[in-house]
Amino acid sequence: MNMPELHHEDFSMQLLRWYDTHRRSLPWREDPTPYHVWISEIMLQQTRVEAVKDYYRRFLHALPDIAALAQAPEDLYMKYWEGLGYYSRVRNLHKGAIQIMEEYHGIMPDNSQELLKIAGIGPYTAAAIASIAFGERIPAVDGNLLRIFARLTEYNGNIKTDAAKKSASAWFLEHMPSLGAGDFNQALMDLGAMICIPNGTPLCGQCPLNICCHAFGHETIQTYPMTAPKKQRTVEDRTVFLIHDDMKIAIRKRPARGLLAGLYEFPNTEGHLLEKEALRYVQSLGFSPLRIKRLPEAKHIFTHKEWHMIGYEILADELAPVPPSSYMAENVLNTPLTDAIRQEPLQIPDAAASPDECGKILLVSLKSLKEQYSLPSAFRVYRSLLQ
Ligand code: ADE
Repeated sequence: MNMPELHHEDFSMQLLRWYDTHRRSLPWREDPTPYHVWISEIMLQQTRVEAVKDYYRRFLHALPDIAALAQAPEDLYMKYWEGLGYYSRVRNLHKGAIQIMEEYHGIMPDNSQELLKIAGIGPYTAAAIASIAFGERIPAVDGNLLRIFARLTEYNGNIKTDAAKKSASAWFLEHMPSLGAGDFNQALMDLGAMICIPNGTPLCGQCPLNICCHAFGHETIQTYPMTAPKKQRTVEDRTVFLIHDDMKIAIRKRPARGLLAGLYEFPNTEGHLLEKEALRYVQSLGFSPLRIKRLPEAKHIFTHKEWHMIGYEILADELAPVPPSSYMAENVLNTPLTDAIRQEPLQIPDAAASPDECGKILLVSLKSLKEQYSLPSAFRVYRSLLQ
C-alpha cells in the first residue's frame, strides 16, 4: 500500500496541534532558561520523567544558577544527585558550569555548535538546549525520536547506530518548522512517551501522525524499531556489610574512578561470603564483631553489570577509627576472633579486605548518612534496613 506523504508543514502542524492539547506539564517547561533545560536534559537521560521531577526541583532549589553550581562542593551536588545514577553526569555538569563561568562570562552559549564544547554536552543535549531555550532549528534525536522515525518510515537498519541517528536527524530537520523547534522536539518526546510507546502496543489510533506512518499503514508496527540483540550483562556476586555499634555505621568512599566513582558505600566485597568468611573480612577491616545476622538478598542492575548481593549486619564493639590498611592486611588476619563469635576454628585466609578496600572507612551517624553522604541506589535495600 502506498502511504500518503504529509507535506512537511502539515506534518508539523498536526504534531504541534496535538502537543497543544496533550503536552505534559513538566517543571522544566515552566521557565525553560538554558540552565533549566540543561539540568533537566541531563537528569532525563536514562531516568523516567516522573522520577526526575523531584530531583529537578530539589537540585534547582539548592543550586539555582550556573554560578551556584560552579561554586558547589562535590559532596553537595552529589547529594542532590543521589539515587539518579550515572554520577559522572553531575560531575560533568559541575565541570561545565565552571567552564561557562571561566570561558563564557557565566552565560550559556546560545547555539548547538558552541554548546558541544561544554563538558558533558553531547549532540543530543546540545540540540535539546539549543532548540528549547534558543529556538535553533535542530532535531534532538533521543530514543523517542528514533523509534518514531523508524516506525514512520519503516527504517530497516539498527536504530542504535550513528547512521540511524543521522538519517533520523535529517528526516526530522526536513519536517521541522522554522519557528517552534523546541516545541517540535518536545512534541515528539511526548508522542514517544504517551502514544508511540516503546514496549507493548503503541496507541496508533490516537496518533496525530498515523495517516503518514508507514508501519501503521502496513501493519508492521511490531517490527519497528529494529535493534541488534542485547549484550549479556556480567553478573557479580557481592557481600554487603552493615557494620555498626549503638551510635554509628561504617561507610567508605569508593575510588575516584570506575563504577560509582567517588560515592559512598557500605563496605562490601566480591563473592558471597559464608558467615565465618564474613566475620574474617570485617575483622580485616579493623572491626571487632560481636554479633552477625544474615540480611535479605538484593539485586542491582547497572548498564553492563548486575550485582547479586547478600548481606550481613554486624554489631561491632564500639566502633573506633580504623587503623592504617598496612596494619590490617598483615596483622588482623592472624588475630583470633572474639569469644563472642568464635564457634569453630577459622581457616579462611583469603576472606580479607585488600588494602584498597580498607581505605577511607568512615564511621557516621544515621542522621549524617542521610543528610551528607551520597549512597547510590545499588545499596537501597540495605539502607532501608537501617531505620
Ligand atoms: N525527555 C528528555 N527531555 C525531555 C523533555 N524536554 N520533555 C519531555 N521528555 C523529555
